[in-house]
Amino acid sequence: MRYPQEFIEELKNQADIVRIIGDYITLKKKGQNYWACCPFHGEKTPSFSVSAAKGFFKCFGCGKAGTVFQFVMELEGSNFSEAVKTIAEKAGVALPVMTNDNDAKHYEERDKQRDDLRQLNSWATEFFESNLESGEGRIALEYLAKRGISDESRRQFRLGYAPNSWDALSSYLQKRGATKFQIERSGLVSLKDSGSGFYDKFRGRLMFPILDTQGKVVAFGGRILGEGDPKYLNSPETVLYTKGQHLFGLNYSRDAIRRQGFVILVEGYLDFLIPYQHGVRNLVASLGTALTDSQVRLLGRFCRKIIVNFDPDSAGVNATKRSLELLLTEGFKVNVLTLPDNLDPDEFIRERGAESYTKVLRSSQSFMDYIVEQAIKSHDQNSPAGKVETLNEILPYLKLVKDRVEASEQVERIADRLKLDSKLVREEFKRAVETRAERVSEVAVTAQLTVKPAEKRLLAALLNHAGVRQRILRQMAEAEYKQLRTAPIFKLLFELEQQGSEPTYDVLSERIYDAALVNDLLPELLMELAEKSEEAYNREAEESLLSLRSTRLAEQQAVLQTEINQAQREGNAERVNELLLLKFELAKQERALTNQLRP
Ligand code: GTP
Ligand code: MN
Repeated sequence: MRYPQEFIEELKNQADIVRIIGDYITLKKKGQNYWACCPFHGEKTPSFSVSAAKGFFKCFGCGKAGTVFQFVMELEGSNFSEAVKTIAEKAGVALPVMTNDNDAKHYEERDKQRDDLRQLNSWATEFFESNLESGEGRIALEYLAKRGISDESRRQFRLGYAPNSWDALSSYLQKRGATKFQIERSGLVSLKDSGSGFYDKFRGRLMFPILDTQGKVVAFGGRILGEGDPKYLNSPETVLYTKGQHLFGLNYSRDAIRRQGFVILVEGYLDFLIPYQHGVRNLVASLGTALTDSQVRLLGRFCRKIIVNFDPDSAGVNATKRSLELLLTEGFKVNVLTLPDNLDPDEFIRERGAESYTKVLRSSQSFMDYIVEQAIKSHDQNSPAGKVETLNEILPYLKLVKDRVEASEQVERIADRLKLDSKLVREEFKRAVETRAERVSEVAVTAQLTVKPAEKRLLAALLNHAGVRQRILRQMAEAEYKQLRTAPIFKLLFELEQQGSEPTYDVLSERIYDAALVNDLLPELLMELAEKSEEAYNREAEESLLSLRSTRLAEQQAVLQTEINQAQREGNAERVNELLLLKFELAKQERALTNQLRP
C-alpha cells in the first residue's frame, strides 16, 4: 500500500522527532540537540543525537543516521508504511483510508494537481511582485510606505499587488502555460455565475503570499488599499491549502522560535511583518481565527512556550480563550499579553518601538491570571451570585492544569484575587473535578458568602453573655461553623475561651483580618440596644444553633443533589444509589432537628 505524498508531507510537518524517538529511549537535551545511549549498538556513554531543528538523528558511535521514519523502521523492524502508521498514531494524525487501486489513482491525481498548483502560485507571486514596480502598482507601494513596511521587507516576504482588473492575472497565467482547468481550481479566480468562465478573484489589493514550512506558496491574502469591505480577502481551500493548517510567517520565523525557545502568536499579517522588520523574529500569525489542533501540533515542533498577543477587543479575547485549551492540552506553557491602549502589535511597535515591545513581553501574564482577570471583570464581585459565576468561568481552565502542585498554587492565587477563603475555593474546585461537574455548587459557595440571620443571633448571644458563651461553645464542633461566613469569629471565640480571655472589640478587631466582619458585623453585634436576660440569650443561642444545624444539613443535601444529577447524566447507577442513601440519612437528621425546633 502506498500513502499519498500529500499525506507523508503533512505527517513530516506534524510529527515531532524528539517526542517520537523519546517514546522509545530517554533523550536528554544538551545544547541544541538531544542525546541518548544509542539503541542500535551497545554503549555506556551517549553518542546518539537527535536534532529537532533538522529533523534527523545520528549516532556518532555506530554511524546510523536518518529521519524519524528510518528510526522507527530500524528499531521496530518494520517497513515504510508500517512506520508511517506508527508515527501517525504517535503524532495524532489521522491515517487516510485506502482500500483499492482506485484510491491510489485518485491520490496520484491529487499529487499531480498539487504540483501544478505550486507552479501556478509561483507564477502568480511573480506577477503580483512585478506589478509593484510599475504603473498602477505605485499606489500599493505608497500604501506600504504609509504602513511602515520597508522595501527590504516587502521583497523578503514577496508582497505584491493585484491590479484592479477582471483578467490581468488569469491572462498572465495562461501566457505562462497554465490550462483553464488548472486556473479554475487554483483559488485565484472566481467562477462566473453563468457557469462558464472565470474572473480574477483578487483585484486592486495588496497581496500577501502564505507559505508552507517548505517555503512554497500555498495561498494568498489580499488587503484592500484603504477602507472597504472585505478588508482582507483570502484564498479559498484548494488541494494545497486547508484552512487552519498553516501559520503565516512560520517559514521565516522557525529558527528564531527554536533559538529563543518561545513563540509570540499574533492575529494579522501586519502584526507579523512590522515586529519582524523591527527585529522581533520569533512570532507567527493565526490570521484572525482561533488556533486549530493541527496548527498547535505544527508549532509544537519548534517550541513549548507561547505568548498569545491578540487584539484586546472582544473578538481577540474570545480567540485567546479558545486557543488556550488546545495549547494547554498539547503541553504548552501559555502566557497572554494584552497591549495597553487597545494597540495591536503592529501599532504598538510603530508608536513605541521594538524595545518597548520586548519590555512588555516580559510582563505578560500566565494564562490563569489572565482568565481570572477576565472572569473578575465580567461579573459583579459584590454579590455571591457574581462570585459563583466567576468561579464557574475559571473552573474549566483550572481543570486543564494537570500538574497538582501547580493547580494548588493556582487555587491559592484565585482565592486571593477573589477575596475568598482558599479552603472554600479548593473544596469547590475539588468537588467539581471529582464529580466532573461543569459548575461549582452554588449552594455551598453562597452559603459561605452571606451571614445568615441565625448566625448573627447566635454570635450576638455568645458575644454578649459569658455564661451563655461557655455553655454553648462546649456543645459546638468545628465542622459546624467551619463553612460559615463568620467562621473566623467562632474560631477566635474558641481560642479566647481556652485562654480565659474576654472577646472585647479590641481583641476581636486585632485578630480578625476580614474587613467586612470587623467593620460592619462586629459593631452591630456588640452594640445590642436592649439588655437581655441570661435566659433569653440562652434560648436564642440554642434555637439559632439548631437552625444552623438544620440549614447545614439542607445545604449538604443540595450539594449531594447536584452530584446525583451529574451521576445520573453519566449513567452511573451505583454512584446514584450511594449518594441517594447519604441524602436520605441527612434528610432524616434534618427532620429530627426540625421537630426539636418546634415549640
Ligand atoms: P490592518 O487594518 O491591516 O492593520 O489589519 P489588522 O490585522 O489589524 O486587522 P484586524 O485586527 O481587523 O484583523 C486581524 C486579521 O483578521 C487580519 O490580518 C486578517 O487575517 C483577518 N481579517 C480581518 N478582516 C478580515 C476580513 O474582512 N475578511 C477575512 N477573511 N479576514 C479578515
Ligand atoms: Mn492592525
